[in-house]
Amino acid sequence: MANSIEIKKKIKNFDKIIRVSGDKSISIRWILFSSLANGKSKAKNLLLSEDVLATLNAIRNLGIKSKINKNECLVYGKGINGYKFKNNLTLDAKNSGTLGRLILGFLINSPKLIRLIGDKSLSKRDFKRIAEPLSKFGAKLKLNKKKNLPLTIIGSEKLKPIKYLENRGSAQCKSSVIFAGMRTNGTTIIKAKKSRNHTELLSKHLNLPVTIKSKKNYDLIKVKKVKKINKLNYDIPSDISSAAFFIVLTALSENSKLTITNVNINPTRTGIITILKKMGIKISVENKKIYKGEKIANIRIKSSKDIKAINCPTKLNSGAIDEFLIIFLVAAKANGISHFKNLEELNQKESPRLIWGAKILNKMGVKTITKENSIKIFGNPSLKINKKIIIKSFLKDHRVFMASVIAAYTFGGRWIIHDKDSIKTSFPTFLNLINKIKKID
Ligand code: S3P
Repeated sequence: MANSIEIKKKIKNFDKIIRVSGDKSISIRWILFSSLANGKSKAKNLLLSEDVLATLNAIRNLGIKSKINKNECLVYGKGINGYKFKNNLTLDAKNSGTLGRLILGFLINSPKLIRLIGDKSLSKRDFKRIAEPLSKFGAKLKLNKKKNLPLTIIGSEKLKPIKYLENRGSAQCKSSVIFAGMRTNGTTIIKAKKSRNHTELLSKHLNLPVTIKSKKNYDLIKVKKVKKINKLNYDIPSDISSAAFFIVLTALSENSKLTITNVNINPTRTGIITILKKMGIKISVENKKIYKGEKIANIRIKSSKDIKAINCPTKLNSGAIDEFLIIFLVAAKANGISHFKNLEELNQKESPRLIWGAKILNKMGVKTITKENSIKIFGNPSLKINKKIIIKSFLKDHRVFMASVIAAYTFGGRWIIHDKDSIKTSFPTFLNLINKIKKID
């Protein structure tokens, strides 16, 4: 079938250097900031995936032009009040929670009605979490079935600053409220559980009136109205959430080595490295540098025997939130029972990923005990699969597809994995890179 892949053999040993595609979170944020900047902003290595193209399409519908030339993207910002569009505009966030939630923050001062829609997966996700704080600024948001898309937003020119407690560790909610604060007179104050901080780093780089006090378990963020955003040229580093699949492919393969270059290793994103090191995986970070506030490095991984089970500290959850499906595969090969807790946010993703993680493991013959927000994985260092496994995620979740491909190449068996097209949302070159690694020089 055209939209599925069949894998019958484990990957042979390899020793390669690869570069994965640009960071999705930074790509989307760069477009949104550039759409309100003064003049032409340029990005290199922008991720050209469906989520990012949906973001370019959304700003186009708001009257902001963009162009893609080979490896470069240009966005022609018209200043902080440069969005021009008709009443009753429909914006389509497709599969992207980041686009859907973040853009609402920037739209909050527009008194015209905008309808936000998304695909089947996004339409099942919770938008009440962001409609609530944005309503407090003085915007009117109406949700389908009280919490879902399609939603309508009518902003206001008379916004009031708010105090907002973000206690899920959601960078999308935090960022959207920061954007709304940038549109509002007065000081918006956000107390946010730690989560990825690309919005804050970009704001700092752009000299915007956003201050952050970092406390032990949360950040205190103050935001004032933004009058001008300077154009922003940016070379987007590679996405650690995409690198993660290749990190685990190498760790679980025999006699193999891999270097992944130019990866964003922002400490709010490196939960996977901390967790895998605790499990005994041989992974190192080299050639560190700082680029516009973001840390970047090469990641080196070697095959690992003697994988240790982990009782995963919950403070690592937010920094690894997109990586748990792939981390669960490492736990399947560990010596002992691993325990991952407080993972309720995992079921809020493109598909309910805690449930899907358990489903994939169970199909592989791995015992799990799954509760509403936790999973125990009974690891088996000599696990080998000799049967046929079919994976078809009804919500076409890209990370379910890619994690299943890595399981097939590292544990063996005959796998038929559906929804290959789902990789287009975040990592269109995923299978090309697998093929590059499969070729032994
Ligand atoms: C993202 C934040 C996370 C993450 C998503 C990207 C972002 O979502 O899962 O893939 O770019 O802000 P939450 O904010 O819902 O945790």
